Amino acid sequence: MDMSKPTRLADLLRHNQAYIPAGISSANRIVDPPIAFVKGQGAYLWDIDGRRYIDYHAAFAPYFLGHNFAPVNQAAMDVLSAGDSLFGAGVSVIEGRLAELLCTKIGGAVQKVVLLNTGSEATSFAIRLSRAITQRKHFIVMQGGYNGNHDELAVNVFNSLEEIGPRVSPGEYPLRPLGAGTTIEDTRFVHVINFNDLESVRYICRRYPIAALITEPILQNIGVVKPQAQYLQGLRRLADELGFLLIFDEVKTGFRHALGGYSSISGVKPDLVVYGKAIANGFPLAVVGGRTEFMDYASHPDPLRRPFLAGTYNGHPVAVAAALRTVQYLAEHEKTLYPAVEALGQRMEAGILKILSKYGMKGCVARQGSAFACYLMSEQPRDLHDIIEKHDFRMDLALRRGLIEEGVFFIPIATKQCSISAAHTEGDIDFTLEKFEKVTARLMK
Ligand SMILES: Cc1ncc(COP(=O)(O)O)c(C=O)c1O
Repeated sequence: MDMSKPTRLADLLRHNQAYIPAGISSANRIVDPPIAFVKGQGAYLWDIDGRRYIDYHAAFAPYFLGHNFAPVNQAAMDVLSAGDSLFGAGVSVIEGRLAELLCTKIGGAVQKVVLLNTGSEATSFAIRLSRAITQRKHFIVMQGGYNGNHDELAVNVFNSLEEIGPRVSPGEYPLRPLGAGTTIEDTRFVHVINFNDLESVRYICRRYPIAALITEPILQNIGVVKPQAQYLQGLRRLADELGFLLIFDEVKTGFRHALGGYSSISGVKPDLVVYGKAIANGFPLAVVGGRTEFMDYASHPDPLRRPFLAGTYNGHPVAVAAALRTVQYLAEHEKTLYPAVEALGQRMEAGILKILSKYGMKGCVARQGSAFACYLMSEQPRDLHDIIEKHDFRMDLALRRGLIEEGVFFIPIATKQCSISAAHTEGDIDFTLEKFEKVTARLMK
């Protein structure tokens, strides 16, 4: 079969499944209904059969400026035509430029950075760094949080009530590695607690020497679960009191919610912070940053105190150029761009709430700027436990599938966060709401 010009979904699926397990290279790309996109531009995607969708998936969130954003693409192309290859020896001009830009624009606790490729590499390096600094081994993660595919981190990402049992507080949840091949021994230093539960942090710290607590400042793996008032401040205080490092995983929240990420919005400074996704608008780049005294462990003179940092493609010039242009663009348009996406987010939130109330569907909208989630439960969740106890997963999926049929792409995985981009317009939001109403009316009949 000539796959250089695939024309039909079924053919492509069959072809790819013959050569790639399940036809996909990342677990969450298996969706029902199956889909294959062939083009993305701005706020839109086109599938293999030529249908257009307004996209709210944004490839799991990196496309904050929209798909195929010309200035960023151009920067990536320019670096190649200038002959700025990956040299793999010595310092690089472009890495230094990006690092300076990040340290000056993010501000707060970011005084030095290291550049990696993916969020998973960056979060696992942040954990390694925290262990090297504190000389402790254990760390805390959130029930329902996702911090990357590394064995120790990929635990309790999304579980059913049967798997994790009744709410635990204060205390820790049984460990549930994400898939086969991860042994419980790989995760023996990991402790899982609920988001928004400070008492459990104390509980764990009394029992184990904790190197770090890693969390997204807003849990966006399970929609948009916001920190309650004073929660992040409480984490900061406990870290200072109990001697562990506070790591904010801003892979999804960074640059999307503000140039300084959600740390700048909350005013809480983590010890280490990880960025990815929106930092390079779709190109593979991730960053670990923090105060000089912490980051300099990466070049500690004593090899026994120095955490290993390596990667053939770390600081790849194409991704670095893309990040440089993305962050410059965000900085140049900061005053207009963030308020504009906030206004689109408000329009979406108000519209959805109106529809839910009109059709008597129990639900609420949790939102931060361009990121939103519609939970079919009466109140916004404070953690995963609330969601698995109260959210209507069946209806959520039906709603998403109905929207896809109408040309609006909400990824068909219940609770997953939706992402508006700077390329979306009021017209796109209104079209989406029109379809949302049509699907809701049909489901509530
Ligand atoms: C909060 C968070 N951290 C880390 C990661 C891992 O990033 P990557 O998929 O680039 O390895 C993700 C990916 O979805 C994420 O959402």
